[in-house]
Amino acid sequence: MSAEGDAPTGENPGAQTDPSLFDKVVNLCKRRGIVFGSAEIYGGFRSAYDYGPIGAQLLRNVKDAWWRSMVQLRSDVVGLDASILSPPQVWEASGHLSNFTDPLVDCTSCKTRHREDQLENPDQCPKCGSRDTFTEARAFNLMFRTHAGPVEGAGAEVYLRPETAQGMFVNFKNVLETSRKRPPFGIAQVGKSFRNEITPGNFVFRTREFEQMELEFFVPPDEAPQWYEYWLAERYQWYLDLGIPASHLRLRAHDDDELSHYSSGTSDVEFLFPWGWGELEGIANRGDYDLRQHAEHSGHKLEYFDQASGQRYVPHVIEPAAGATRSLMAFLTAAYRQETVNDDVRTVLGLHPQLAPFKVAVLPLSRKEPLTALAAEVLASCQLHWMCDYDETQAIGRRYRRQDEIGTPLCVTVDFESLDDRYVTVRDRDTMAQDRVPINALVDHLGSRLNL
Ligand code: GAP
Repeated sequence: MSAEGDAPTGENPGAQTDPSLFDKVVNLCKRRGIVFGSAEIYGGFRSAYDYGPIGAQLLRNVKDAWWRSMVQLRSDVVGLDASILSPPQVWEASGHLSNFTDPLVDCTSCKTRHREDQLENPDQCPKCGSRDTFTEARAFNLMFRTHAGPVEGAGAEVYLRPETAQGMFVNFKNVLETSRKRPPFGIAQVGKSFRNEITPGNFVFRTREFEQMELEFFVPPDEAPQWYEYWLAERYQWYLDLGIPASHLRLRAHDDDELSHYSSGTSDVEFLFPWGWGELEGIANRGDYDLRQHAEHSGHKLEYFDQASGQRYVPHVIEPAAGATRSLMAFLTAAYRQETVNDDVRTVLGLHPQLAPFKVAVLPLSRKEPLTALAAEVLASCQLHWMCDYDETQAIGRRYRRQDEIGTPLCVTVDFESLDDRYVTVRDRDTMAQDRVPINALVDHLGSRLNL
C-alpha cells in the first residue's frame, strides 16, 4: 500500500519558467472561448470567471478525469454531492468561523488592502510604494455569509461553503450506514467553493468562486501514516499521467508554521506556473480532528465499530484536496506550445486526449451537398462515442490551426474522393501526419488512436 519515496520532492532545480506564457495562455483563452472575464460587458469582475464553450468542456473533462481515477476505478471510494449552503454550526465545529482567516492590512496612503503574509516588503505598499503606511493586521474571515429566507438576523445566517470537505464529514454516518463500506474507505466530492480572497489574481489561479475536487479517506488510526504516503504518490502521478511534465511538478512538505489548524502533516503538489511555483493540491493528514469536532458539536457518535476485532474507533482522515479550476490552468499552461511550420507559427494545445474538449473534429472540404451529407453521417457516428466539433468554414489549413489551438487530437477531413471511395483523411494534431481510413472502420481507428 505504501508508495513512500515514489514521488520526487524538493526544488526541482532544472525547471524553468517562461513569464510570457501567462499572457499567451490568457489571450488564447479569450480568443478561443475557453475562459472569459465574468460580466465583461459591465467592465468585468475580478472575483470570478466564466468558462466558454471550449473551457466548459475542458473543465468538465478535468473533473471527469479526477472522478474516474478517484471513484470509478476504485472500490474503496464513493461519491457525494453535498449542498453549498450550510448553517453556522458546521463552520463553528470545523473551526472555520474562528480560524479561516487571512491577515489583512490597509495602506492609509492609497487605501488599498493587502494580505500581510503575501507582501514582499512588510513595510512598503506594493500599490503606491509608500513606506510605513500599513494599519495593524487584522484577521479577516474568508467565508461568504448570507441569510436564508426573507428575514435577516440570528437564526437565518448561512454560509457558502469555503471547501467541499465538510460535506463529507457531516455525512460520514449517512454514508457509512448506507454504502457498506468500512475503513479504509473514502468519500469524494467535486463542486463549487467560495472564499472571499483578499487578493484574487493570476487569472483563474485564485478566484473567489472556484471548484474543488476533494477526497476524505477514512482509515484506522494506526494506518494513517502509510495512507498519507500512498496518497502523495497517487496524486502526484495523476498529474503526470495527464501530461504535466515532471520538470514542472513537485511535492513540497509544509513547514510546521504553515500547517492548517487541523493538520498534523500536509504536502502540496505544486506546478511551475509562469510566475513560479504554485499549489495545485494539498494532501493533509487531518487525524481525527473533523469527526471529533462534529461529534462533539452535533451530539452524534461519528465512529466505526469493527465487528471482527470488537474495536470502536474514530477513523483518521487523509485528505487529497485539489482545485479543478486551478488544475485546468496548469493543464492549459503545460499544454501550450508554439512551433514554426513552413515559416508559419502554429499554436498547439497538446492536451492529453482525456482532457481535450473535442476528441475529433469533422471537416468537410466544401460546405455544399453531397459532401456535407456524408460529413454529417461521419459526425453522427463519431458523436455516439466522443465530443466532436464540426466546422465547414474557411480554408482547411485555417481549420486545422483552430483545432490545434483548442487541442483537438484528431481531425477527420471529408473530401470529394470520399464520395467515391468512402475513405476519409485522419490528421494528427501533434505530428500533422495524415492517413486515409475507410469510413466503415473509422470509429475503431479513432478509438484506438485516442486510447482513452
Ligand atoms: N479541504 C482542504 C482545502 O480546502 P485548500 O488547500 O485550502 O484545502 C484545496 O484548498 C485546493 O483548492 C487548493 O490546492 C487549490 O487548488 C484550490 N483552491 C483553494 N483556494 C482557491 C482559490 N481561491 N481559487 C482557486 N482555487 C483554489
